[in-house]
Amino acid sequence: MAGNLKGRHLLKLLDFAPGEIADLLTLSATLKANKRAGVRGRALEGRNVALIFEKASTRTRCAFVTACVDEGAHPEYLGKGDIQFGKKETVADTARVLGRMFDGIQFRGFSQDVVETLAKHAGVPVWNGLTDQWHPTQGLADLLTVQEEFGRLRGLSLCYVGDGRNNMANELLVGAAKMGMHVRIGTPRQLFPDPALVETARGFAWENGGEVTVAERVEEAVAGAHVIYTDVWASMGEEAKIPERIALLKDYKVTRRLMDLTSRRDAIFLHCLPAFHSLDTDFSRQFPDICEVEDEVFEGPRSRVFDQAENRVHTIKAVMVATIGR
Ligand code: CP
Ligand code: NVA
Repeated sequence: MAGNLKGRHLLKLLDFAPGEIADLLTLSATLKANKRAGVRGRALEGRNVALIFEKASTRTRCAFVTACVDEGAHPEYLGKGDIQFGKKETVADTARVLGRMFDGIQFRGFSQDVVETLAKHAGVPVWNGLTDQWHPTQGLADLLTVQEEFGRLRGLSLCYVGDGRNNMANELLVGAAKMGMHVRIGTPRQLFPDPALVETARGFAWENGGEVTVAERVEEAVAGAHVIYTDVWASMGEEAKIPERIALLKDYKVTRRLMDLTSRRDAIFLHCLPAFHSLDTDFSRQFPDICEVEDEVFEGPRSRVFDQAENRVHTIKAVMVATIGR
């Protein structure tokens, strides 16, 4: 079990060995079963956890808060405007102050450098709750969801379609490759992932029995896939790019036809959420072509998006228990 992770940061799955990721998934499954059985944990009793948010969040914030309370810790939400962070005080100074008061620090924001700087100076574990570059706690929840569905990860094909350069594409490329999955990215050439990252992921896949493919033709990318995954076409902070991304990605929308192109009746649909799948949000009313997935798939029998969202709490809890637990 992930006892050897005490004191570790979680900045990106790239920093974790496949066995460590597997241990975190096993611990997540145990904690999930305990919660379902009504067993109350005390692994985080007496711990204080700081939650710094520069960007908005529903799932990540609520998963950290509920996971803390479930295991007896105190979560403290520190929103953008609430603290001196970056305005009157450097990241390094903030890290040293919070590290004297808290047992662990979650950071969600723009720059990966900021979360890395927090980790360097805090003296306590720092967990990345999303940056422009990575989203490791989401990656863990995604792997748990796939494992629950198919009973394994190794040898399964996961196809991510959409913006091939965002935090989710990066995280899945590396995380799924480390677990021996076949990772495919279906995206237009303009949004191909960083070639150096693709090579790194190929190395992990090769070591663990998987493979990595980047394809412009979406039909090629999805053929035979067990998992079709997508994310918004413009991430937080990229709102000005929405019209350009709609033009680039409209043929990469996840439709019933795309799911059928997997030729697998057991293929599942995943999305980290929030998702544009209907015209019931402010953005989708303003940009009616913004939807990266059609309602029929999102609401359909192959969609596992709400299991995936629930798994955020179990995996985040596992990360905290493994790194700062009693
Ligand atoms: N998937 C995810 O990180 O959701 P939030 O932005 O709501 O935290
Ligand atoms: N790529 C998305 C993920 C949201 C959970 C974003 O960064 O906005």
